[in-house]
Amino acid sequence: KKKLILDVDTGVDDAQAIMLALADPDVEILGITCVHGNTPLENVLQNTLRVLKVCNKLDIPVYRGCSHPLLARKQHASDYHGKDGLGDVPDPDAPGLDLLQKRKAAQAMIKMVKEHPNEVTLVATAPLTNLAVAVQLDPSFPEKLKALYIMGGNTDSRGNTTVCGEFNFVADPEAAYIVLDRYTCPTYIATWEFTCRNSLSWSFCDKMYLDQKTAKAEFMCNISRLSREKSQSAEYQKEITAGTGFNSCDCYALAAALDQSLVTECEEVAVAVELEGTYTRGMMVVDYMELLKKKHKAFVMKKFDLEKFKEMLVNSLK
Ligand code: BDR
Ligand code: CA
Repeated sequence: KKKLILDVDTGVDDAQAIMLALADPDVEILGITCVHGNTPLENVLQNTLRVLKVCNKLDIPVYRGCSHPLLARKQHASDYHGKDGLGDVPDPDAPGLDLLQKRKAAQAMIKMVKEHPNEVTLVATAPLTNLAVAVQLDPSFPEKLKALYIMGGNTDSRGNTTVCGEFNFVADPEAAYIVLDRYTCPTYIATWEFTCRNSLSWSFCDKMYLDQKTAKAEFMCNISRLSREKSQSAEYQKEITAGTGFNSCDCYALAAALDQSLVTECEEVAVAVELEGTYTRGMMVVDYMELLKKKHKAFVMKKFDLEKFKEMLVNSLK
């Protein structure tokens, strides 16, 4: 079985990404590490347990990670994901945080990977703080990974959080910088604009959430109501996705980790993160001229098998 660690800031799309992974019979999730991001860490922990509960998978270990970025000011995406990070439809019987593991996220990642060297794929769909801390604690950690999949960054100048910045990178630019600099394992990146280019039509979303009468589909339908309304509201009409549909960003990185054949075109390039620009802090820069002389290059996803992806999404809610 393919061994995965998921690093999440469970908002709506992280929730769906976790469900994708849980639905794959050929995957073993070694653990889920949580980090600040869409919502404060306490909510992320709670939300992650809620997703596991809906899927009857509360036996998967969940770890508490960093509650703050390395240096940046903390920010959340409550506007889109809700105050609780999951669309503000609380579950009165949500599992208690006493189910969390004692070990902290970065230490847990290091331990899991040490136990299975070169076998573990890490999927990061959140600010990269936990990953940055892990490599600081153990510089040999990245080389023991089989692969790393990241949802984050943008290479054209359109952000979703700042003028030029995508949320996961903007929420902790220093962490993103460290990860792109020091993770030498094969690294695949689903950028903001890549996910936008592959967003899902509203009619497909209705089919996926409303036509299936399962607890998982009902859960996804409820928690995504707020962000779907947002995506269709006037204020979002300047987004790249405007008019095209729903962008469940994190699912692209996760799906690619499950089935690499979904990625039909990649660009292998050296990448870094802008740390100082007035408008561009947190933006991913691509070093086409190779002026940075980086030894390690990342694979930036360019094209995706959308039909196969949609099938995976539908199946994950069955
Ligand atoms: C990313 O930021 C969060 O809002 C989403 O969960 C996704 O990981 C998109 O920019
Ligand atoms: Ca996320």
